[in-house]
Amino acid sequence: MARHLITSAIPYINGIKHLGNLVGSQLPADLFARYQRARGNEVMFICATDEHGTPAELAAAKAGKPVAEYCAEMHEVQAKIAEGFRLSFDHFGRSSSPQNHRLTQHFAVKLAEAGLIREVSETQMYSKADGRFLPDRYIEGTCPNCGFESARGDQCDNCTKQLDPVDLINPHSTISGSTDLEMRETKHLFLRQSAMKDRLDAWIDSKSDWPVLTTSIAKKWLHDGDGLQDRGITRDLSWGVPAQFEGAPWSGMEGKVFYVWFDAPIEYIAATEEWTEKTGGDWERWWRTDKGADDVTYTQFMGKDNVPFHTLSFPATILGSGEPWKLVDYIKSFNYLNYDGGQFSTSRGRGVFMDQALELLPADYWRWWLLSHAPESADAEFTWENFQVSANKDLADVLGNFVSRITKFTRSKFGEAIPEGGSWGEQEAALIEDLTTRIRAYETHMEEKDIRKAAMELRGIWVAGNEYLQASAPWSVFKTDPDQAAAIARLALNLIPIYAVLSAPFIPDAAKNMLEAMGNADRGWPGDVKTALEALPAGHAFTTPEVLFRKITDDEREEWQERFAGTRD
Ligand code: 2FM
Ligand code: ZN
Repeated sequence: MARHLITSAIPYINGIKHLGNLVGSQLPADLFARYQRARGNEVMFICATDEHGTPAELAAAKAGKPVAEYCAEMHEVQAKIAEGFRLSFDHFGRSSSPQNHRLTQHFAVKLAEAGLIREVSETQMYSKADGRFLPDRYIEGTCPNCGFESARGDQCDNCTKQLDPVDLINPHSTISGSTDLEMRETKHLFLRQSAMKDRLDAWIDSKSDWPVLTTSIAKKWLHDGDGLQDRGITRDLSWGVPAQFEGAPWSGMEGKVFYVWFDAPIEYIAATEEWTEKTGGDWERWWRTDKGADDVTYTQFMGKDNVPFHTLSFPATILGSGEPWKLVDYIKSFNYLNYDGGQFSTSRGRGVFMDQALELLPADYWRWWLLSHAPESADAEFTWENFQVSANKDLADVLGNFVSRITKFTRSKFGEAIPEGGSWGEQEAALIEDLTTRIRAYETHMEEKDIRKAAMELRGIWVAGNEYLQASAPWSVFKTDPDQAAAIARLALNLIPIYAVLSAPFIPDAAKNMLEAMGNADRGWPGDVKTALEALPAGHAFTTPEVLFRKITDDEREEWQERFAGTRD
């Protein structure tokens, strides 16, 4: 049994995420976690809310709530929506947990002991109107790299360049809008990433199987311009992990906290520790190579804007600590999903958000469309037309129709049990061969995290069943040879639990309904296809399920398109 540690980028606490966020991290991570569990492997699937930093402070202020209260509430909201989408986290943690506070401070100390932290007196933007230093997101201005006018102090959303607030052209305070900013002296801790450059470079070079999207972004940050820069890891904020604490090897950091991007990835580890508190399990088995984690395969999922932090900053923390922490083995990154001719936008409320999606249709519809159109090799676009076609064809016409046709036919001719009689011939042998090839290809795509390819292969597997039914036409055969019709029905009914098991990572609810209809006949992953097709014997009772997938009508499509064209209030 292999052991898979799987993490999804942890979503910011400020508000509900849109479908583009979902398909860029949590959903593909869930697909992979479900697949690995279905293959009988041991899985630890971790996500959390990213609760520190300016986004949380700004959102809490906007909601008129103390930030801790705001975060606690929003965590519950996000957890509930995650459940709605059937995201099967082993633990959905909080980066504000005591475990993360402790671990973040621990890493800072270890890095300091390794000589990888330096104290820097620097001048920083101070807003006289606001009476405070302005960290990252409290400042907006023009990106020096691409000219985008609403670049934030920490990163440009347009070109993904990591920025320091002082880099911005025409900066202004996002609190007051004031441009009356001046540079004042303040002290901060810096992580000496530049000292780690060669180690990180060699480590990235050893990952020849990683997606080009991942390695090209890492390489860019390692080599462009002056190469990898040291990075400030403290901020002038009150909400976060305090940078001054007992045992800290520095002084004068009162009133400062660690930068949110320093503590957020550490929460992957801390969340597993939170899981220990919940379950009594052993988190170190997953994270400490001296405590059993050396046989763990660790896969991370994230959008491309997160890649620099996961390929460089977090590994610098892990490697630099000098302690035997588990490093990531594979980073699956995603391009952006666009929305109907533009971009999804949280700030402008453009596109479909996770809570809204679930009000329209069950999770499986969204999961199927999003995963089968995952923005892997390029940006992808959500359009309502495409969504309607994909759901109606793939889910309703192909899979749903197969299940409905064979259960209804059998019920009407033989009753609700797998019928006896007849035998399989050439057509069945050909189907078994085809399915065997396809299922093995599906496994390969899933192992390689080629999500679109996996979805297309799964669809091919559904189509093969439909075509078999169409060609073997048990409804005609029944008139002259009921025994032979029974043999066909027996095969097709046995395909239902196989389809359920194969499809569950994509569409878990439909898979559950299919299995239930077949008397909860989960016989596990189909290794040998012929054996799997003989698993349910004649006489095994089934029920004819309600419609698995209803079709999306043109009226609905038009209504939804219009409803979501504007902005969310
Ligand atoms: O981009 C984001 O939504 C960040 N909150 C992701 C953090 S991932 C990790 F570092 F924990
Ligand atoms: Zn830019």
